[in-house]
Amino acid sequence: MTDHYAVIGNPIKHSKSPLIHTEFAKQTGQDLDYISRKVALDDLVGGLKQLQAEGFKGINITVPFKEQAWQLVSDKSAHAQRAGAINTIMFNNDGSLTGDNTDGIGLCRDLIDNHQIELTGKHLLLLGAGGAARGVIEPLLKYQPSSLFIANRTAIKATDLCTLFADFGDVDAGSYDAISGSFDIIINATAASLNGQVPPLPDNILNPNGICYDMMYSDSDTAFITWAKQHRAAKAIDGLGMLVEQAAESFRLWRGVQPKTQAVIALIRQ
Ligand code: ATR
Repeated sequence: MTDHYAVIGNPIKHSKSPLIHTEFAKQTGQDLDYISRKVALDDLVGGLKQLQAEGFKGINITVPFKEQAWQLVSDKSAHAQRAGAINTIMFNNDGSLTGDNTDGIGLCRDLIDNHQIELTGKHLLLLGAGGAARGVIEPLLKYQPSSLFIANRTAIKATDLCTLFADFGDVDAGSYDAISGSFDIIINATAASLNGQVPPLPDNILNPNGICYDMMYSDSDTAFITWAKQHRAAKAIDGLGMLVEQAAESFRLWRGVQPKTQAVIALIRQ
């Protein structure tokens, strides 16, 4: 019998997740289908109940529901528990829900395995303190960067995250005005790119050979990728690889099978 999976969000029309998971299923011989579904902004509870009633086995959660979903699912991995945001839910046979967050694994695999970028000993700047940022902080700190500065428009959200993750490494935080010094890797986890905007970044914050990574992905350059190129980043990488890698980890959690990602990244890049 074919198992059903979905990604939920709002908006959701342009999601690549159905294509990615369909490719993974073909590649691994898993009998499943995967759709995208728009859930009303004020009815995540109803959306989840509906999917469960329809017999779905698992879902991915995207903007803007990652933090709200975290509040609704009590059984979570330790990492997801700390992150305060989930992007993966398993609907268990006994009717319970299990939550996880694969964003951080996806980002780190793309940086390290796909782009051969070293995190250890580097100075990192993370832009944003929403659901997307929360999921990647602990995985990034596991690689022992020299420092991590979390910058956000609403400074208190960044400083709260700094407190939450202080035990995991050298973390500091503040508003964009509070950014000082320069960085080896700047990671954009804000939604600003969705509106064609870049957070107000000071000049000269990218070290020579510095790298910029936009967790957002778009068919054309995002505003942050354009900023990176204007500021002579050695590499300006969009979030397509992360998108596929986080999907692969969700697929592994659901199916117990690790799909290969390279061909799928190349397919979508075409
Ligand atoms: P997500 O789950 O995608 O992270 P979110 O929780 O709504 O979505 O968070 C969006 C992030 O993008 C936040 O860090 C937000 O900053 P605020 O916390 O100050 O709202 C940031 N963001 C969105 N639009 C932005 C813009 N135009 N400039 C700078 N930051 C922006």
